[in-house]
Amino acid sequence: MSILEIIKPDDWHVHFREGDFIKSLVPETSKLYNRVIVMPNLSNPITSIAQIKKYKNEILNNSVNKNFEPLMTFYLTESLDVNELIKAFKNNLVFAVKLYPSGATTNSAKGVKNFKNIFPVLEKMSEKNIPLLIHGEVNDKKIDIFDREKIFIENELIPIIEKFPFLKITLEHITTKFAVDFVEKSNSNIKASITPHHLILNRTDLLEHKIKPHYYCLPILKKEQDRKSLVAAATSGSQNFFLGTDSAPHHINDKENECGCAGVFNTINSIQMITQIFDNENRLNNLESFLSKNGPNHYSLPENKDKIILKKLSKPLKFNKYLENNNYKIRIFNPPFPIYWDIKEELI
Ligand code: DOR
Ligand code: ZN
Repeated sequence: MSILEIIKPDDWHVHFREGDFIKSLVPETSKLYNRVIVMPNLSNPITSIAQIKKYKNEILNNSVNKNFEPLMTFYLTESLDVNELIKAFKNNLVFAVKLYPSGATTNSAKGVKNFKNIFPVLEKMSEKNIPLLIHGEVNDKKIDIFDREKIFIENELIPIIEKFPFLKITLEHITTKFAVDFVEKSNSNIKASITPHHLILNRTDLLEHKIKPHYYCLPILKKEQDRKSLVAAATSGSQNFFLGTDSAPHHINDKENECGCAGVFNTINSIQMITQIFDNENRLNNLESFLSKNGPNHYSLPENKDKIILKKLSKPLKFNKYLENNNYKIRIFNPPFPIYWDIKEELI
């Protein structure tokens, strides 16, 4: 198979940042995807309608795709104003709410410390059918970083699910076999997104011989058996898993630093490398489910009407090393294998 036609994909988890970044990041994403869920972890987290309106306008002003739709999120703090959330949801301004355990990742200091304190908000979200998007890691010095996803599921997620069985939940950027198995056996309200980098890399890639700061992300890369389990889940055709790139750019100086930030910028070649992974697994028949069908199915949205054509090249695809201008320089994720698939054209 060297030509594939699929429904245009959506990215169910992306970071656009602010200021100069947004002007380059939105064009790159809107070229490739129709709908995206936009993360709210700005330096001043998004918790109000006024912030959402301003941010969404800025994003739309930089879009290069007339069908591009940024789906906005509120940042869940223990003091989030439920009335503001309901009002935003009723007016179609907010699509979902993002839960960051406090301190777990970039700009998460204002996230949740005591999960019981958010139960009243979760109750309302369940009632109104507002999806909860979860960064599923505990932030606890006593818990080893490689165990934080599993312990979060056991100690925090299970009680949330037991108390709110009808709440629509996305366990985001899952990284472990434990999470894959958990989602597979959970009720249909809980699904998971998976990133390109967690499908491609394991912790040995990050740490062996020399440390690779551009592979550092959160949740941290896990063992090869975990990565294999993610690939099996994504390529299986199961409706429980869909793409969320978690494309999370940082300025190169903030990555190559004695205290480097977590995040992989993968937007530019994301669809191409996902296609290559499915090809390597002989699962191209399930590509459209993972990229374009399972996400809308989970979020009760229609599938996109547009299509894209993917073509297999005779030589590996070349792409730039950096996305840069006078004000910033961002490393583009470079997977450790050749990519032969490119986007040929769009059928609109
Ligand atoms: O690697 C990550 N980077 N993981 C996250 O959860 C946040 C993200 C960011 O915003 O930099
Ligand atoms: Zn993220």
